[in-house]
Amino acid sequence: MAVRRTLHLARGTWGLCVLFLDHDVIVCARNGSPLIIGQGDDEMFVSSDPHALAPYTHRVVFLEDGEIATLTNTSMKLSTLKGKNFNPNITVLEEDWGVSELGDYPHYMLKEIYEQPDALRHCISGRLDRVGGNGRLGGLKLEPRDLAKVPHVRLLGCGTAYNAAEIGQIMIEKLARIPAVAHISSEFRHNDPVINPNALHFAVTQSGETADTLSAVKEIHLKGGSVYGVVNVVGSSIARECGKGVYIHSGPEQAVASTKAFSNMVAALSMFALQVGRSRATSKEQGKQLINGLQEIPHLIEEYLEDQGPILEAVEMIKDAKCVLFLGRGISAPVAKEGALKLMEIAYIPCLAYPAGEMKHGPIALLEEGSPVIFIAPNDHVKVKTISAIHECKARGARVILIHEKGDDIANEADISIPIPPVHPLLSPLLTVIPMQLIAYHTALALGCNVDRPRNLAKSVTVE
Ligand code: AGP
Repeated sequence: MAVRRTLHLARGTWGLCVLFLDHDVIVCARNGSPLIIGQGDDEMFVSSDPHALAPYTHRVVFLEDGEIATLTNTSMKLSTLKGKNFNPNITVLEEDWGVSELGDYPHYMLKEIYEQPDALRHCISGRLDRVGGNGRLGGLKLEPRDLAKVPHVRLLGCGTAYNAAEIGQIMIEKLARIPAVAHISSEFRHNDPVINPNALHFAVTQSGETADTLSAVKEIHLKGGSVYGVVNVVGSSIARECGKGVYIHSGPEQAVASTKAFSNMVAALSMFALQVGRSRATSKEQGKQLINGLQEIPHLIEEYLEDQGPILEAVEMIKDAKCVLFLGRGISAPVAKEGALKLMEIAYIPCLAYPAGEMKHGPIALLEEGSPVIFIAPNDHVKVKTISAIHECKARGARVILIHEKGDDIANEADISIPIPPVHPLLSPLLTVIPMQLIAYHTALALGCNVDRPRNLAKSVTVE
């Protein structure tokens, strides 16, 4: 009763467990923050993440806002803030979430970088129709005739998820010839967006608990739209709020700096782009090419990881820099942002990422003798334009680290050349991002930073 009365007065976001000195009872409540109860044999567990409960029990209850749980070791009573009792809805967690132990790796981030080939295999498995050259994302519950009528697509995310959403935007426009826009979740609802109920909205998130993205989803629901989740954590708040979508199946991601979730978000969005594309502007042949490309990616990443190029030389060039500039064009522009985000968050080096063509409109003023610039230039239709930007940088004394396709003459433009295996241009982010993850990782190590738990950051950001 005391908890209930207090909660009526409370404002803000919380996930609470109230303990009592004289009673063997825990009272739990939530508002905005995740709270999950695990039911064991003669024991109960409370967590903010369902998968943390997996070693103890697979039977969980996801508490919702406005609900209160009263727990003893053998009982669970649920009620609303108004005092109405109701029965718990028990969910049984899937078994195959994956292992989250470090094993032989020194850090989770490195482990997760190396897990990308298998994580991608998991993500695409059973979701590609090779004969029809199509994607098969059953969780969307969208038929070709539905997809053919979609007026536009909007994608929401924060940080790495936003960068993946920007790549999704480019792939959807390219393959389906309908407008697609990626939005930063934290801005979305505050700009009073106009929602078309016929449009498709995607909430892209690893944790499924990011408060900014959850609020954006609720804003769309409030305005009559529907949102599909592109989520890693099964049963998370955003997955449940959306009620439909695609699980990206990365398995547990422990390092604060996201790596394998980024790749799987991009892969999931590429399969959606293919699916909506095939209902509109993409031919079966083009679809088959993309499917072949996607199926090759895990192997190409393994090939690259076997021979990573001069990553440590690149680390030497940037580790004491005042600022590192990341540039890419087209589909590589969001990859540049992702590289900058990774280096900034774990090595604390100020980084700036720009579409390469925008460099001459401002960031070029930063360049001086020896300034390091990381270019991403796969073998696509904008490569020639990227070369012009490389020349502009070099003319100001900048030193260029270049991520490019193996065997491409563009390597001659670089001070440090990092080759990746040749790849389908639309899928190049899945390869070009890997050297940047490694550069960030090794730079953080060289500077003595805490790679997996960088300062001031949290894995799930559950406040707006
Ligand atoms: C990624 O390296 C960051 N830690 C961060 O930007 C993250 O991607 C962002 O907070 C979104 O998280 P989510 O995918 O869990 O929603």
